[in-house]
Amino acid sequence: MSNDRSVHVDLADRGYDILIGSGVLSKLEAVLKPMHSKGARRAFVLVDSGVPDSFADQITTITQSLGIDSSLATITPTESIKSIQTYQSLLEHIASTGHSRVDPVIALGGGIVGDLAGFVASSYRRGVPVIQCPTTLLSMVDASVGGKTGFNLRITNPDGSEDLLKNLVGAFWQPQCVIADINTLDSLDLRQRRSGLSECIKHGFISAGVGHEGLLDWMIQHLDAISSFDPATMAELVERNVALKASVVALDEREDTSKLGGRMLLNFGHTFGHAIETLENLSPDPSNPSLAPLHHGEAVALGMVAACRAAEHASGLDPEIGNELISILKHAGLPVQVGGLPSNQDLVERMSHDKKATANTIRVVIPTSRGKCIVVEDAPVESLEAGFDAIRA
Ligand code: GLY
Repeated sequence: MSNDRSVHVDLADRGYDILIGSGVLSKLEAVLKPMHSKGARRAFVLVDSGVPDSFADQITTITQSLGIDSSLATITPTESIKSIQTYQSLLEHIASTGHSRVDPVIALGGGIVGDLAGFVASSYRRGVPVIQCPTTLLSMVDASVGGKTGFNLRITNPDGSEDLLKNLVGAFWQPQCVIADINTLDSLDLRQRRSGLSECIKHGFISAGVGHEGLLDWMIQHLDAISSFDPATMAELVERNVALKASVVALDEREDTSKLGGRMLLNFGHTFGHAIETLENLSPDPSNPSLAPLHHGEAVALGMVAACRAAEHASGLDPEIGNELISILKHAGLPVQVGGLPSNQDLVERMSHDKKATANTIRVVIPTSRGKCIVVEDAPVESLEAGFDAIRA
């Protein structure tokens, strides 16, 4: 019996399915067939160099069988490669193949590949279809769903210092389909998988507030199987997390900034996390500095702890919420403290560079009770500092 799962993102004429399961990459053929009938004759495939060749080969075999010429570009995903220079070279590559408006872009990789491929698709000829084939747990449960695309911008500040502003340039561009083949997760190292778990834990901590009450308890019940990446549990973990994300996106596709809720809740841990993620000296293991810099999920894990402790300071949140979070993160092998942080003043300033900040305020997502969070823009600076103090090793 097939163990495949699917979740629909309900966005009317921009709606799409997320296909989940072992071996579901083969379903790309059924996704491409109607595109071929509408005239698609080329595909541009952006591949993460860490993905085993067999998956890219499978895409080539499928496109060839349909009479679609595929052209592959490979990148090694790093935050610095997620740049305007890479974007330009990808546009030049795609244009050189004669890619038409009905030809698809296919992203095979993690969040960086998906974001870059998605932004190329959103802007080339004012928009061509994109199919997201996420190969990391993080991109399966978060980045590939919901249409956020873009790249980072490196800026020089008036004092001559440089900052890497993550995802500052981008567009909402919903995919035609997301194909999350669980078999691709086998190629990930433990640290990458744990980083993906961080976004799942984030979903657990907002779940009750967005109509997915059972998610946190389900994850706690299955924490051993999840932390050991039991294959049978992975498909259900992805399905449950994608279902939460899909429902949040369906109600707030473009992250309406006047709402102080909706999609913004998915940023739990992110505003604190972004402030530390681009600090290149931070290691998730104080005894092993060579592991620096932090992976995104590690920064989010630390950011969620900081947000809980900031909420205790600002609004008297029950400390048990943060204690439970810490115990789950530790079980999942994620960091809850980090050494080498700069001053609180520097960190709060970095938060205000986050794109979720408005002119005079820093927006943060803080818990109000178990499984519920809210967005606030008036958290006292002392509370934000208390958050950073709590994760300072
Ligand atoms: N990763 C947050 C969002 O997609 O809105």
